[in-house]
Amino acid sequence: MSRVVTLGCCVAVTTSLSAQPIMEGDRSVPVEARNGMVVTSHYLATEEALKVLKAGGNAVDAAVTAAFALAVTQPRSGNIGGGGFMLVSSETKGEVKAIDYREKAPAAATRDMYLNDQGEVDQKLSRFSHKAAGVPGTVAGLALALEKYGTISLAEALAPAIKLAEEGFVVPPRFSEGIRDRAVLLGQFESSRKVFFKPDGTFYEPGDLFVQKDLAATLRRVAEQGVKGFYEGKTADLIVAEMQKGGGLITHEDLKNYQPEIREPVHGTYRGYDVYSMSPPSSGGTHVVQILNILEGYPLGESGLNSAKTIHLMAEAMKRAYADRSKYLGDTDFVDVPLKGLTSKAYAEELRASIDPARATPSVEIRPGNPSPYESNETTHFSIVDKYGNAVSNTYTINFSYGSHIVVDGAGFLLNNEMDDFSAKPGVPNAYGLIGGEANKIEPNKRMLSSMSPTIVMKDGKNFIVTGSPGGSRIITTTLQVLLNVIDHHLNIQAAVNAPRVHHQWLPDEIRIEQGISPDTIALLEGMGHTVEQKAAMGAIQSIMIGEEGVFYGGADPRRSTSSAQGY
Ligand code: GLY
Repeated sequence: MSRVVTLGCCVAVTTSLSAQPIMEGDRSVPVEARNGMVVTSHYLATEEALKVLKAGGNAVDAAVTAAFALAVTQPRSGNIGGGGFMLVSSETKGEVKAIDYREKAPAAATRDMYLNDQGEVDQKLSRFSHKAAGVPGTVAGLALALEKYGTISLAEALAPAIKLAEEGFVVPPRFSEGIRDRAVLLGQFESSRKVFFKPDGTFYEPGDLFVQKDLAATLRRVAEQGVKGFYEGKTADLIVAEMQKGGGLITHEDLKNYQPEIREPVHGTYRGYDVYSMSPPSSGGTHVVQILNILEGYPLGESGLNSAKTIHLMAEAMKRAYADRSKYLGDTDFVDVPLKGLTSKAYAEELRASIDPARATPSVEIRPGNPSPYESNETTHFSIVDKYGNAVSNTYTINFSYGSHIVVDGAGFLLNNEMDDFSAKPGVPNAYGLIGGEANKIEPNKRMLSSMSPTIVMKDGKNFIVTGSPGGSRIITTTLQVLLNVIDHHLNIQAAVNAPRVHHQWLPDEIRIEQGISPDTIALLEGMGHTVEQKAAMGAIQSIMIGEEGVFYGGADPRRSTSSAQGY
């Protein structure tokens, strides 16, 4: 089998498929608890967040604690140098809100900033240079979450992360494997070498202690001064000095002006459940709801989990949604997005009518549709629920595993390379093969389009499923399949997380599958005209399901060996 490089948020795999098991860990049943549940991609973050719940804190307190702990223990994707989205559901208030802390383009960014003299996209510039970084939103977003919905102080939420950075933690195998995989890219930057390699240039091995004094000092400044400890003063000086070393664009003004936003999430219904997911500048929620609307017209439970018929229908629905994504989605602070049309049942019916139940429609024959009306106007995920009826679904990222691979010298954290999520040139795919257009062109202070899909499903006003995933363009379809696996196929949450996944994103015109789809299913799909490609595992979806009896079931994704679900 061929070698595969998956650049999806927080997933960096360069391996031969035959050597790569789909699951890094070994989990088969969900974790059960009655008072609180935390599911993250790192056991140390899970443990710290669970302590907060046990001490009486709510899900938002635990979420912010987990996010800062992940920034220390899983620096390839946990971050303070990137951005993300958080959904907060409160059963008692009867509301679900979305916090948008996505990075923004610096004020000096221009539409053609990544084009070379021949008018071609310079991918090194948009992915692995100081110019690749958007203005980070994580610290401001987490502080806003605590201020609006939390009960503990920023300093309290930061304390475990500061201790983990200051005193160090024992390196698990996944940590040292990640650095080995990216050694060449990280090794290009002196500041990154200082953090990720030992002083003699050798690798941190499993069992070694990993201490991050600069990062501890940066986090302490935030604990002492609040968001100003990041966006102004010494940390801001260090970021701007790093920019000046490599021709980066982020200025003191960009940092000082950064503001997160509280937004309304996208809302849809599916077979009697209410689905809330992330609104623009993420495309995630829009397309999760759009694909669910199309699939609602088919009895997927009868056609069965991962049968050829089910996969065919999912792929056809996915293709049509990703075609629309390429044309319509962008930052709604800058462009009109026909959200109502894209997520309407009527438009889904129209798209469904174009699906042949027995034959694949070639992607070249699918163009972005015509939803109406316009309304005026890699990443890591964790899910947390508490005993007060709150749920948090949070996905945040620095884009690639290790982002731009550039550590801010003296501040100890990696900068994102999120600018690559803009459409650098219409029709030219980004790192995930996603095509974008005018709606996602680069503009100063604009947020680049995302696929992150933190999602909360409710039934009769009660939280039911809390889920989300890394995985770049695969985030939307990974999230979708966990919902289908529970609602249509009646799997428990761990089985729903474990089940092999499929993905179609319109272009390239192929169904990407994980290991575990049977050869006869593949043959049937090929007989319908599909191209089927088995590639590396997709996503790392950290999920919670709440049973009618009020029991919390945690399903951590075994595709990531450090994933951990714990409750009490
Ligand atoms: N950086 C990947 C995404 O936000 O979709």
